[in-house]
Amino acid sequence: MKKRAGIYLIFAILTYAAPTLGAPPSGKTLAQQGNGKGAPGCVSCHGDKGQGNPAAGYPYLAGQPESYLLGQLNAFADQTRTSPVMQPFASALSVEEMQAVSAYFAGLPLPDTDSGKSAGDTADAGRRLATQGKWSVGMPACFQCHGDRGQGVAPHFPAISGQPEDYLRNQLEHWRKGARSNDPIGLMQAVVGHLEEADIAAVSRYLSTLSPTKAP
Ligand code: HEC
Ligand code: HEC
Repeated sequence: MKKRAGIYLIFAILTYAAPTLGAPPSGKTLAQQGNGKGAPGCVSCHGDKGQGNPAAGYPYLAGQPESYLLGQLNAFADQTRTSPVMQPFASALSVEEMQAVSAYFAGLPLPDTDSGKSAGDTADAGRRLATQGKWSVGMPACFQCHGDRGQGVAPHFPAISGQPEDYLRNQLEHWRKGARSNDPIGLMQAVVGHLEEADIAAVSRYLSTLSPTKAP
């Protein structure tokens, strides 16, 4: 009798535990609630539709190429991309969870970030860099790689239009300082090497006024 109860108990544990052991939380669950093991829900900072938070300088994730997002989570975890905020969260995600949450945000539509804001007196300089580059030093236009309105080109080139101005400027500064070194074959490191301080400010401001869903 005792032995039998034991077998039932094991059976019960297996039937209850197996689905939770086998399947990681869905990408949507991770985005909304986190994994309960150190990675919080992403939407509290990145927006309920992954649209970002311009006031706080948090980037949008919605509509970014899946492999780009996955690459960034890995880079935060192995610190080839420095972020004191994201590093512990990314490190707390398993490989399967990183994949699931990247696929989830990649599947959401790019946000319409048009705020009606103007890029002010540096608008022309910013637009020139984005659409024409700086051929005097051999630098192609940003939109040559990032798409004709900065909407990104999967799998390697992320959308850059409409990201928060401070976020964009910080990323370009991080490449300059070596705090972000995970990009494929050093493409962005080469780009940033051709930019002056004033160029970084102008192009970040200009891009932040655009929407990846509309022609500039
Ligand atoms: C407390 C706020 C906060 C939470 C919660 C948060 N993030 Fe972030 N996330 C940030 C900040 C800030 C950055 C910008 C980091 C930098 O400056 O490099 C960022 C950047 C990112 C990036 C890089 C985006 C890009 O365009 O390169 C990815 C991917 C990302 N987060 C995914 C996630 C995921 C997935 C979760 C949930 C598991 C999450 N984040 C939760 C604040 C947060
Ligand atoms: C030769 C191709 C190429 C050109 C030209 C280029 N980029 Fe990039 N850019 C990339 C690649 C590749 C990545 C992704 C890096 C990674 O995976 O970490 C990237 C990433 C970025 C990011 C990070 C986006 C994010 O969400 O964190 C920013 C910002 C950026 N580029 C801005 C620019 C600007 C501004 C210009 C023009 C001055 C430019 N890029 C020109 C290839 C390019």
